[in-house]
Amino acid sequence: MNAAVGERIPPSELSAAYRRALELGLLSGDDTAALFIDLQRLAGRARELREAFPDGALHTAAVKAAPLPPLLRCLAREGMGLEVASLGELELARSVVPAERIVFDSPAKTRAELAYALDLGAAINADSLDEVARLAELIAARPASAAARPRIGLRLNPQVGAGRFAYTSTAARYSKFGVPIAEFREALLEAYRAHVWLQGVHVHIGSQACAPEQMVEGMRVALDFALEANRRAGAAGPRVRIFDIGGGLPVAYADGDRAPRMAEYAALLRARCPELFTSDWRLVTEFGRYLSAPCAWAASRIEYVKPGGGARTLIIHLGADMLLRECYFPEHWRHEMVVLDAGGAPRGGPLERHVVAGPLCFAGDVLSFEQELPPAREGDILVIRDVGAYTFSMWSRFVSRQFPKVIGYHGPGGEFEVLKEREGLGRVLDFWQ
Ligand SMILES: Cc1ncc(COP(=O)(O)O)c(C=O)c1O
Repeated sequence: MNAAVGERIPPSELSAAYRRALELGLLSGDDTAALFIDLQRLAGRARELREAFPDGALHTAAVKAAPLPPLLRCLAREGMGLEVASLGELELARSVVPAERIVFDSPAKTRAELAYALDLGAAINADSLDEVARLAELIAARPASAAARPRIGLRLNPQVGAGRFAYTSTAARYSKFGVPIAEFREALLEAYRAHVWLQGVHVHIGSQACAPEQMVEGMRVALDFALEANRRAGAAGPRVRIFDIGGGLPVAYADGDRAPRMAEYAALLRARCPELFTSDWRLVTEFGRYLSAPCAWAASRIEYVKPGGGARTLIIHLGADMLLRECYFPEHWRHEMVVLDAGGAPRGGPLERHVVAGPLCFAGDVLSFEQELPPAREGDILVIRDVGAYTFSMWSRFVSRQFPKVIGYHGPGGEFEVLKEREGLGRVLDFWQ
């Protein structure tokens, strides 16, 4: 296991990379904020995932976590496929990997989208028994000559309970996702019996929500169901042979937090579900956060330092337009932050409590009410760490601000490249017209 890719990017490295970007002239005065992505680290995370599971598994990256094409291409170069949850993501993924390496999830796929994905030959995970029925109609109507063989799974809810955060847990008794196994056991068994093309089970029990032990418990419940479906198939032989274990592995956002490495999760899974690590099963994974969260950081100019109300408030250029969950639930989603001076050198000094507020016009646009930072000054740079997943992918148009420049680099001392220019004002205006 490569230890170096698991840890958060250290402040000395952030500072060196920021200074290098300045030296190379990659940041102009207009760049009030920029995103930095360490592509070498991202590739390392993908390798770590591959090494943790048997050869032959299809590892897909959840596009929703970080849908920037250069990141997706970096993961594809490591042999990964892509998990998509909309037509837009499907088209993004198609521009990067062949359809055989795409898995289409979503609770709201239309008939037309399902037909399109079937024609392409992408794998599809149905989210409900009604969606299985739609697929049955579409598959029955296909010409016998149709090139692509359907690869269809069904998302199951093992109902092993909510984790730490209810709003990112999907395996509680109620969830809008998947089919609860206990409640619909007979109907599920009948669906698997009736449709020879229904060969996969899919379980995703939430993102950053559950401890690995709970995740693995959910897999066991789904695996027992799949084994039962195969027993019922009897002489016809095993039907279910694709097991899509979803994503969801938590990462450590706060200094001092410990999060499991992929090899630990795979070892737990192997201990609890040894069958999955045999040639009887084709494994699919859909990790997002684990791959990209620790590979990116955001740097914003501190536009103002406002005293008042008993606090020092740093007004920065990124808020709920990029860090939506962080602003809605600042007590749950906390990022470590670092202050650099305008030249990129780390600021020192005794730590003080700061409020970190974004640029948007609503009072909830606050990333942290209690960030311990050295005294920051107007014009300094605030670095927000570990923003590689579910941050910029949730970009919002509220107040019509421009999506920041994205700068990629290849590890400490590595090459730099602009992956995406700062969004032009014209594109912002186009959105509304
Ligand atoms: C169906 C599905 N698969 C995979 C993922 C990726 O989860 P994570 O980024 O936590 O690994 C998600 C995230 O919400 C998801 O909904």
